[in-house]
Amino acid sequence: MASITPLSQSQPLYEKTQFTLLKKPQNQFCSIPFSRFTQSSKLSLKKSRMVVVSATTAAEKSNKRYPGEAKGFVEEMRFVAMKLHTRDQSKEGEKEPEGQPMAKWEPSVEGYLKFLVDSKLVYDTLEKIVEKAPFPEYAEFRNTGLERSEGLAKDLEWFRQQGYAIPGPSAPGLNYACYLEELSEKDPQAFICHFYNTYFAHSAGGRMIGRKVAEKILNKKELEFYKWDGDLSQLLQNVREKLNKVAENWTREEKNHCLEETEKSFKFSGEILRLILS
Ligand code: HEM
Repeated sequence: MASITPLSQSQPLYEKTQFTLLKKPQNQFCSIPFSRFTQSSKLSLKKSRMVVVSATTAAEKSNKRYPGEAKGFVEEMRFVAMKLHTRDQSKEGEKEPEGQPMAKWEPSVEGYLKFLVDSKLVYDTLEKIVEKAPFPEYAEFRNTGLERSEGLAKDLEWFRQQGYAIPGPSAPGLNYACYLEELSEKDPQAFICHFYNTYFAHSAGGRMIGRKVAEKILNKKELEFYKWDGDLSQLLQNVREKLNKVAENWTREEKNHCLEETEKSFKFSGEILRLILS
């Protein structure tokens, strides 16, 4: 029987959380200690917690609204994510462009295969986590129609039939999958941030990248990774509503903690994206 493990007393942010932890972590390939991912961020989290607490108090006093708040929490997540794009990625981006602009990318099939293999590992992991649902609220995100694992499996099989050797997963995918597994058991707000960013990024910038790469090296072949059953905008809208509903039960501190995780989501996904050019 699943044992109910109380959340750590040393995690005051989660004291009021609606999430209940059901199972202990069970990891297949995570040999890297979770602390390696979180050590540097623990410090900044401590700092930012202090900032968040004082900001919340100030916000309460002045009834400050967070950008996007009136529309629901997904809009807040989107606002933070869009600012983290570079100016050449999106007109809403605020970061200086780094590396080659996408228009000048010279991808290789080998690099793209590494990207697809690592992406599959990340989607397998996300889809396994919501299936297992160590926090019951994750179950809301089963069978959303946004799942990418099956499509990617078909694509890799197609490449295999074309005579390409399918590589094993590489460090960027392994690191991210490992981080997600650990996070999903300990920090639901941060996990949901990665869930949102991974699926929504793929439906936006990810599709643009897919089209560009297909034009350059796949004779415009559209991979299953970029096809959804049904109306994508409706699928996305359904998931937005579920995310908004889950976040309605979060305290302001928990919401801010989720938003603060966006940067890590960009860092991990960015490393996987860069495989395309490797
Ligand atoms: C080369 C890399 C990327 C490009 C070119 C790109 C481009 C874009 C574009 C054009 C949009 C649509 C903006 C709109 O609604 O008008 C978008 C949305 C978005 N991107 Fe990216 N992006 C990239 C990487 C990323 C990464 C690494 C993440 C995070 C892991 C991310 C997260 C998001 C999110 C959450 C949205 C909002 C989607 C929505 O509102 O439905 N993007 N991106």
